[in-house]
Amino acid sequence: MRVLVIGSGGREHALIRSLAQDPDVTALHCAPGNYGTAAIADNHVLDPTDPIAVVELAQRLGIGLVVIGPELPLVNGVADAVRRAGILCFGPDRAAAEIEGSKAFAKEIMAEAGVPTAAARVCEDSGEVRDALDEFGPPYVVKDDGLAAGKGVVVTDDRELAERHADDCDRVLVEEFLSGPEVSVFALTDGVTAVPLLPAQDFKRAFDGDEGPNTGGMGAYAPLPWAPADLAEQIVSTVIQPTIDELRRRETPYVGVLYAGLVLTEAGPRVIEFNARFGDPETQVVLDRLATPLSGLLEACAVGTLGSVPTIEWHPGAAVTVVIAAENYPDAPVTGDPIAGLEEAEEVEGAYVLHAGTKPERGLPVTGGGRVLNVVGTGPDVATARDRAYEAVGRIRVRGGQHRTDIAARA
Ligand code: AMP
Ligand code: GLY
Repeated sequence: MRVLVIGSGGREHALIRSLAQDPDVTALHCAPGNYGTAAIADNHVLDPTDPIAVVELAQRLGIGLVVIGPELPLVNGVADAVRRAGILCFGPDRAAAEIEGSKAFAKEIMAEAGVPTAAARVCEDSGEVRDALDEFGPPYVVKDDGLAAGKGVVVTDDRELAERHADDCDRVLVEEFLSGPEVSVFALTDGVTAVPLLPAQDFKRAFDGDEGPNTGGMGAYAPLPWAPADLAEQIVSTVIQPTIDELRRRETPYVGVLYAGLVLTEAGPRVIEFNARFGDPETQVVLDRLATPLSGLLEACAVGTLGSVPTIEWHPGAAVTVVIAAENYPDAPVTGDPIAGLEEAEEVEGAYVLHAGTKPERGLPVTGGGRVLNVVGTGPDVATARDRAYEAVGRIRVRGGQHRTDIAARA
């Protein structure tokens, strides 16, 4: 199969890496890709959110399956265009991707489908915001309704900050604060059948101890040694299956991976967000553990045959990824800084480096985005995987680079 992956982050490098090891993949292309994907796939320059550009490239390359990584192309209708052109596509149509594109829409689907989630009010003006903040009390949870690259959510005890964030957004959700451990559960789906992947945990805050602003994610690990063994199955039956059934009932079937971000509260799991794609950086650790060839799974989703795919196999052991971010991430990351020590990092047993915001400059890698690298450590358990990841991180030098030192520490 000839595969084209759309996107340029660490998630896409992880997808490309899995597909490069897959015997059923005969040609591998990425657009736009990064410094790391260029080493194992053909990178192509294009605007990933432009449906026509993606279809033209896929046709020119004779692609059999297009895999869409990020949310913006999905919400922009790239999957619709690819399918309309008669090419298999992994990723939901625009209508189904609204589950990520609008948090108010996601709440509507969950209410209809009986999916447990934080109580919320959709607010259009500051009066409604004040009433909702009064109703729920602190800590305040205020979410931009639309896409915000992981930076649209403010959780704070500071009432003024909560109101200011709401003023900066058009439409917001004010939500009940949920307390408990957070997990990310991904399920592959062809619109009818849902198959869960390994649950993972992501670290969203910029600084150690879960301090600082929310980011796209500063690290992740999988599996979760402390979670109940049937967690993924439980989430499929209470969250994922009812949601995809509701989308199918609305004649907007969901094809791709549905990502449920959950808080495991004392009263049971509650959804805090849906994403219409693989999570980043959770995908980097989840795919690392996947033993079943990836392309067949993605193709089965696109074709509609996921129900007849054999049970997914996983490698034993664990993976931990630590994000190295650019100076000033997430506010205004500095780019163009040289990156050194990549080869030394990969000499650490069980460790390797996935590229995220990197680009070539005179043939050498420099920073080109907020999250620059995902350093992955693997091993028989989380502790070993974590030690290896951090040993590799210690060998990499990025001027102004920052990373958390407590990824997977409590696990
Ligand atoms: P989201 O982008 O919706 O995943 O939110 C980003 C982060 O904000 C989450 O990972 C949580 O840590 C936090 N968060 C979101 N919603 C809630 C909530 N209802 N209660 C507590 N924390 C939340
Ligand atoms: N890691 C969180 C996300 O991909 O949204």
